Amino acid sequence: NDYRETVEYLLHWYDLNARILEWRSNPKPYYVWISEIMLQQTRVEAVKSYFDRFIKELPTIKDLAAVEEDRLMKLWEGLGYYNRARNLKKAAIIVMEQYNGELPANREELKKLPGIGSYTSGAIGSIAFQLPVAAVDGNVLRVMKRIAGSFDDITKEKVKKELEEDIEAIIPKDRPGDYNQSLMELGATVCLPNGKPLCNQCPVMHLCKAFHNGDELKIPVKPKK
Ligand code: ADE
Repeated sequence: NDYRETVEYLLHWYDLNARILEWRSNPKPYYVWISEIMLQQTRVEAVKSYFDRFIKELPTIKDLAAVEEDRLMKLWEGLGYYNRARNLKKAAIIVMEQYNGELPANREELKKLPGIGSYTSGAIGSIAFQLPVAAVDGNVLRVMKRIAGSFDDITKEKVKKELEEDIEAIIPKDRPGDYNQSLMELGATVCLPNGKPLCNQCPVMHLCKAFHNGDELKIPVKPKK
């Protein structure tokens, strides 16, 4: 596995560079869930104020389950993809009815909820419940394929599945959420897409095969169709 050595460097880098965010300082399952759904479509800096207002108005899953459609849409206005908000409410109702008002600490159970797929269940599982599971989104695919120097087609479901397995083989059991977030954070601030990676600022430059081979602009491979 190409990734074992990244753990110590990325966790150290994350300790020094992680942005301080409410859902990190206080990683309650509900907070992690709401923030991860918002972050699927919007950057961290823009999410902050939406997140704060959302949690102030709907502080618990019970409040979310009972919120009126109009009020929910107002809270989401500007974020777009309104079905994500509708799925949040649907899932909250199920959590109230079937899980006693608490998100399940189990990836397979989380995945049964509307709007929670492989990425989100991994994020909630690792960040809120310290489960040793991967959370692979587009940022993480880009970072990891560059480190491995791999020209795999990242639009293939199999490539994503195998990356999840590779990450789960090395994810630190004492800090799974921090490791996953270090990959997301590196992808968002250093290992940038669109020909703009800041390799000279990267804590794993010395482990990165794409950098070593001069392939950082060619990876990830994402065929148009
Ligand atoms: N993007 C999605 N989830 C994130 C998180 N927890 N930290 C940083 N970037 C993210």
